[in-house]
Amino acid sequence: MRRYARIIGTGSYLPPRRLTNNDLAAELAQRGLETSDEWIVERTGIRARHFAAPDVTSSDLALEASKKAIEAAGIAADDIDLIIVATSTPDMVFPSTAAILQHKLGMANHCPAFDVQAVCSGFVYALTVADSMIQSGAAKRVLVVGSEVFSRILDFNDRTTCVLFGDGAGAVVLEASEEPGILATELHADGSHVGILCVPGNVSGGQILGDPVLKMDGQAVFKLAVSVLDKAARATLEKAGMTDADIDWLIPHQANIRIMQSTARKLKLSMDKVVVTVDQHGNTSAASIPLALDHGVRSGQVKKGQTVLLEGVGGGFTWGAVLVKM
Ligand SMILES: CC(C)(COP(=O)(O)OP(=O)(O)OC[C@H]1O[C@@H](n2cnc3c(N)ncnc32)[C@H](O)[C@@H]1OP(=O)(O)O)[C@@H](O)C(=O)NCCC(=O)NCCS
Repeated sequence: MRRYARIIGTGSYLPPRRLTNNDLAAELAQRGLETSDEWIVERTGIRARHFAAPDVTSSDLALEASKKAIEAAGIAADDIDLIIVATSTPDMVFPSTAAILQHKLGMANHCPAFDVQAVCSGFVYALTVADSMIQSGAAKRVLVVGSEVFSRILDFNDRTTCVLFGDGAGAVVLEASEEPGILATELHADGSHVGILCVPGNVSGGQILGDPVLKMDGQAVFKLAVSVLDKAARATLEKAGMTDADIDWLIPHQANIRIMQSTARKLKLSMDKVVVTVDQHGNTSAASIPLALDHGVRSGQVKKGQTVLLEGVGGGFTWGAVLVKM
């Protein structure tokens, strides 16, 4: 009998400060940058994003999302035996945000906790690792979180990038089960594209070396994302012996509505089958998929027994997909 990893609870959290495109445009105008709600909506589908207060960290956002996922799962925090946090904006260089989260959750159980760094693919990477740990018998209940304070690494003098991202967190609790849960996974990376999406800075000798803000070649990222997402979707479906017709919901990384529309079109899915939160959250990197999943579950769109394809793509270049029976 196969041992599956089933999602038994989801949760998410957005920091309270919400900026519409007009709010952000007004702030950027003070820096002499011109943008508009019309430009941002037309190119990206984004209408608003949330920014965390300066003293709020990824582990703070992760804590709120995790508490909701744990409550939805109907378990206690100490029932968890592994924590994986996907983030590119950790609280510190070390220790991991996952270890800090374990402490904030008040866990007495000293389960392993570590971070995964795969930028916007981080959540599908973390979910895949958790699935493997459950299938192997090494873990029984895993808390998987995507959490980001991307506002900290944005260049607010670069209007092409700073309008795209936001802060937030999403979490799931996975449990070992004989009932189907995660059906198939697929991960990839191609480090030759490191330059098209990166934060090239580093801490060394007590100083920041290089530029610690996000750099992006938007058009190169766009083209690559559309192509790899389609390949990852097909490979994952094939592994599970399924076709695009079996997908009830597509929950892609929420970066840009045009990338999502193109992905759906290639899979012959109508946009009615795509959970969309990019309009309200912007691109929250590793948090975007679990935020959208939790939104889908709590809004009643995504139901138990349905087949959901989660897809991530981002810096590295990294990409991947997870096909899951809810
Ligand atoms: C970033 C992105 C929206 C830019 O759209 P684009 O159509 O490629 O736009 P360009 O960069 O070619 O810029 C077009 C024009 O808009 C201007 N512009 C850029 N940002 C602007 C903004 N926020 N407001 C108004 N004008 C803007 C540019 O200066 C340029 O003006 P010009 O023609 O006078 O030179 C688009 O490339 C994209 O979505 N890429 C994918 C990004 C992504 O999803 N990244 C995360 C992946 S995980």
